[in-house]
Amino acid sequence: MRVRTICAGLTLSVVLGTSAALADASPFSKEQAEDGHTKFNNHCAQCHRPNMQGAQGPALVGDGFKEKWAGKPVAELRNYIQQNMPQNAPGSLPDDQIDPITAWILSKNGVQPGDKPLSKDAASAAQFPK
Ligand code: HEC
Repeated sequence: MRVRTICAGLTLSVVLGTSAALADASPFSKEQAEDGHTKFNNHCAQCHRPNMQGAQGPALVGDGFKEKWAGKPVAELRNYIQQNMPQNAPGSLPDDQIDPITAWILSKNGVQPGDKPLSKDAASAAQFPK
């Protein structure tokens, strides 16, 4: 009985510890993603649709998109966007547009927000979830 209680306690602390670590590791904040919503609609939605289901450009949500980016550093996605998008004006958007827009895309793909906003550095450390 005693052993069982200790085991349950250990399991609980491991589980809690893990979820706290994941929350800390979230590469963007909620406010930033909300800011990115408007910026996405201004710069990206004409080709990817406001719901990101795709039109002239491919879908930025869903299984195909997730499989492509899963396990890769968020920086890779961020850099791709900064260098190639908007497709009709590549490289035109500065960091203060790219970071919130990338945060909004992550949130639409089910990534939970954390305390710190996305930045170039944070994007290198974070991974697109599998
Ligand atoms: C003028 C239309 C257009 C606009 C505006 C545009 N895109 Fe795209 N986007 C495309 C097309 C077309 C592709 C496919 C390019 C290719 O496959 O080479 C693409 C591809 C992408 C991809 C890669 C998709 C994948 O499957 O990995 C991402 C991410 C992306 N766009 C994000 C954005 C973001 C963010 C913006 C706004 C800053 C944006 N796009 C604006 C047309 C557009």
